[in-house]
Amino acid sequence: MSSSGKKAVISKTEYIRRRARLMAELAPDSLAIVSSAGEQLRSRDTFFPFRQDSDFLYLSGFEEPEALLVLVPGRTQGETLLFCRECDAEKEMWDGPRLGPEQAVQRLGLSDAFPIGDLDDILPGLLEGRERIYFPMGRYAHLDRRIRSYLQNITEAPGSKGAPEMVDLDYQLRELRLIKSAQELRLMAQAAEISATAHRRAMARCQPGLYEYQLEATLLHSFVDAGARETAYPTIVGSGRNALVMHYCSNQAKMSDGDLVLVDAGCEYRGYVADITRTYPVNGRFNGAQKALYEIVLSAQLAAIERVQAGNHWDEPHIASVEVITQGLVDLGLLQGDLVSLIEAGAYQRFYMHRVGHWLGMDVHDVGDYRVHGAWRQLEPGMVMTIEPGIYVPLNDKSVATEFRGIGIRIEDDVALTGEGVEVLSAAAPKSVEEIEYAMRHGRDLLTR
Ligand code: GLY
Ligand code: MN
Ligand code: MN
Repeated sequence: MSSSGKKAVISKTEYIRRRARLMAELAPDSLAIVSSAGEQLRSRDTFFPFRQDSDFLYLSGFEEPEALLVLVPGRTQGETLLFCRECDAEKEMWDGPRLGPEQAVQRLGLSDAFPIGDLDDILPGLLEGRERIYFPMGRYAHLDRRIRSYLQNITEAPGSKGAPEMVDLDYQLRELRLIKSAQELRLMAQAAEISATAHRRAMARCQPGLYEYQLEATLLHSFVDAGARETAYPTIVGSGRNALVMHYCSNQAKMSDGDLVLVDAGCEYRGYVADITRTYPVNGRFNGAQKALYEIVLSAQLAAIERVQAGNHWDEPHIASVEVITQGLVDLGLLQGDLVSLIEAGAYQRFYMHRVGHWLGMDVHDVGDYRVHGAWRQLEPGMVMTIEPGIYVPLNDKSVATEFRGIGIRIEDDVALTGEGVEVLSAAAPKSVEEIEYAMRHGRDLLTR
């Protein structure tokens, strides 16, 4: 948990503030519709665990499916209406409690709430006469069809002034979600702390002969045990050459003495995620080639984190990582030539083929533009990003000394820019060669807790 030991939450006041801020950005004669996620069938009559739509959760704090939030910016100070499932004793006995429209108004701080079954009676009237409708076209097909049919009826009605303009709400929401509040930062710190502890436990358990999925099990156990019931993305445990597959997640291989294992895992906690990668030797000791490459990635990562400063632009951390990695690869003989020319030619991309990071928040690759009017965006307090350089040496690259072939290393932290400077939210996961070897040798007592 965070230093206060208290579980963070997003307050009702903050949800009200988010809606007000969004409505202040919308045209007064408009209306915005934001939909909950739908339940997803997994097999026959069994569903995937429900995961709320991030935009909807961000604005409502409401965790049920079959709901619609309608924002009407032009009315008094802006009205917020919710359509949701009604209470139903029979259904609640099987599937658990529902909030219901009556309680939703007070609990979520809304102007009004209605049964979702009344949508056809109420929503067309709200749409009528609006100049503009903000709506995430294409995200939920059933809702697209419904809204289209409402609009068609409006257009075809006698004396109609025509259909309102349909606009995507994405831009305004992306901008709001990109800058995290103090409450959001506390939740993200908790997600990162839970995930960092899980990585420590995985390091302590790791040994030759264990299967990749067994390390995955340690991570999942640790997440759920801390109250984080979902992962932010499929957990990657890639030992040996499997580390070279960027989206590896079959996690089926037996881990071998002498190999590294790349572990990319983060939990989702109360709607916010962590995204952490650590790479370490299966047997607890880096060999010479592994250590040499690891130190380059680590230096690149530290150099990139140093460039996360308010006023710097988005690309500066990436450039720093490219410079350190290219120089390191030259020093080890994996690249030959002059540093500047190699960087200009992108020679490093043979070994470092992704960018240094991405925004992080409610989604692992969180919303937010990286460029503004064509130029890289400036970093500001409230932004959270990953910093995750890597080196991946192809198995069959004959131009590289054999000892380096098939090694894949990534080091990934979650970095928040606050009013006070930079905070590495995932700092509790061991990272230097010494810290990792120590944690692998002495961390066993963590496993019994
Ligand atoms: N785990 C996904 C990523 O690192 O972007
Ligand atoms: Mn990432
Ligand atoms: Mn990751």
